[in-house]
Amino acid sequence: GRVAAAADVGDLRRLARGRAPRMVFDYVDGAAEGERSMARAAEAFRRVEFRPRVLRDVAEAPTAVEILGRRISMPVVLGPTGFTRMMHRAGERAVARAAERAGVPYTLSTMGTTPAPAVTAAAPGGWNWFQLYVVRDRARSLDMLALAREAGMDVLVVTVDVPVAGARLRDVRHGLTVPPSLRWRSALQALGRPAWWFDFLTSEPLRFATVDGAPGDLAGITNLMFDPSVTMRDLEWIRSAWQGPLLVKGVQRVDDAKDLAAVGVDGLVVSNHGGRQLDRSPTPLELLPEVVDAVGDRTEVFLDGGVRSGADVAAAVALGARACFVGRAYLYGLMAGGEGGVTRVLELLRAELVRTLQLLGAGGVGNLDRDLVRLRPAGG
Ligand code: FNR
Repeated sequence: GRVAAAADVGDLRRLARGRAPRMVFDYVDGAAEGERSMARAAEAFRRVEFRPRVLRDVAEAPTAVEILGRRISMPVVLGPTGFTRMMHRAGERAVARAAERAGVPYTLSTMGTTPAPAVTAAAPGGWNWFQLYVVRDRARSLDMLALAREAGMDVLVVTVDVPVAGARLRDVRHGLTVPPSLRWRSALQALGRPAWWFDFLTSEPLRFATVDGAPGDLAGITNLMFDPSVTMRDLEWIRSAWQGPLLVKGVQRVDDAKDLAAVGVDGLVVSNHGGRQLDRSPTPLELLPEVVDAVGDRTEVFLDGGVRSGADVAAAVALGARACFVGRAYLYGLMAGGEGGVTRVLELLRAELVRTLQLLGAGGVGNLDRDLVRLRPAGG
């Protein structure tokens, strides 16, 4: 159908906007405050200029890479997103299955709506990761790790850019609650989105799988649950409590990257949470090369924020990322068409990456280097 015919992630975004209620679409599509960080991330990818080599043999363009000691089929990781069953009833299971089929990792969020064992049962052959927010009750944080570990999740991603909830003004204006409630305004809108509301009202009630939280606005739940007093000492504690690979997500400065490398993390994600936390934070694609230069020999550096195409992935890898996390891109697919929509996003990213590698004269993803890319000056 229309999902299979989508020519790029933008097409899936438009389909998603047509299917999901406005407040659900805006929860995914929006960002914090003036949404400047999000706009700048997109703008940085627009400023990428490729500098292709010609007359290279590009008959083959292998995309597989090794990260954290294991091979994945392309340098893409499906990042953690909260409340995924709100986007589509198939939720986290569908995302994990699509990732499994594509041979890329999937990261379940602390704010997920499917329990960790159900996710790994849905995708037993996938590489399933767990993302932790440190909650006020430290014992509870350890319980989450044990649960994830028992479920077979062997990579931990600790997100550090949410000491408090960011101000997502679209959510505030819609009065978005978790779970969404059918009030007068949304009831009127529901007339235009009958399929979504039917699915929503007939599927398993939407709630967090890992954290308790009375229904309410997401920022309120976040601030009640999350511990804003977390420091680098807590990270040392997590490092000692978790035996597998440990990534820290939300790194926005070179000096922090150095401190984290010193703690012995296996990787870090240069990220501003897709612009959903501190507005006007550094643009990940611009910050990436400095971080790679500072710590890339000691820890694996990843990037997220604004990745919407395989060409974006190629640019980030050329600038030093081991792989890109993606958030909204797969959520648009999920909202547009459930598991098939996520699969379509991954097919598009792969086809765009292969084509870019060939047109760049790079051949395999392993041949991407900084000389193949420059960032045009702003406004250029
Ligand atoms: C997120 N993100 C996120 N990150 C995290 O560590 N834990 C979480 O629960 C969530 N939840 C979440 C929900 C939604 C709807 C979005 C869009 C994002 C951030 C996410 O992992 C990632 O950092 C960004 O999405 C990257 O930017 P792009 O790819 O969306 O531009």
